[in-house]
Amino acid sequence: MRLEPWAITTLVVAACGALFVVLPAQGDERGTRDARGWASTPVADPPGECKSLPTFVSSAVPVLRSAGCTGCHGGADPAAAHALDLSGIGKSNAATCALVLQKVNLADRPSSSLIQAPAGSQAHAGGKVPDTKAFTEAMLGWIKNE
Ligand code: HEC
Repeated sequence: MRLEPWAITTLVVAACGALFVVLPAQGDERGTRDARGWASTPVADPPGECKSLPTFVSSAVPVLRSAGCTGCHGGADPAAAHALDLSGIGKSNAATCALVLQKVNLADRPSSSLIQAPAGSQAHAGGKVPDTKAFTEAMLGWIKNE
């Protein structure tokens, strides 16, 4: 079969039209404008950084250490480190703070699992801290600033 010139022109125009429809859907995934200038759909934010790293280090970290959390969550216990990874304390505090922040409920800070799990209000393989009040205050000393 031999295509007439008008048929070839029609096919080329149709192909270009299809390309034009497909390309915008391939915008980059970070919610910014790509090199072609097309906006794309924003995706969920990556794990957020802490707003108050200084109070994480001054208020939360000493108690996470003294209450024995780092004993399991510092890497020795894989299940614990998977649930809450504190292995970066003292080495990469900013990254660790961002991880711990995932256990914080910013809509209702005292109900954060970071507090509820070791306070005994939520099932926790690591048990309960002896002084719930002191522990809670130390955590809130940081998370009230987030
Ligand atoms: C004896 C080991 C051990 C100790 C000590 C320990 N944990 Fe855990 N923790 C675990 C394990 C194992 C898990 C995962 C299973 C679970 O959730 O019970 C876990 C889970 C958690 C979770 C995740 C809960 C969730 O809902 O995602 C938090 C938060 C947590 N621990 C905080 C702490 C804090 C804070 C301390 C110190 C006061 C602490 N843990 C001490 C073993 C421990």
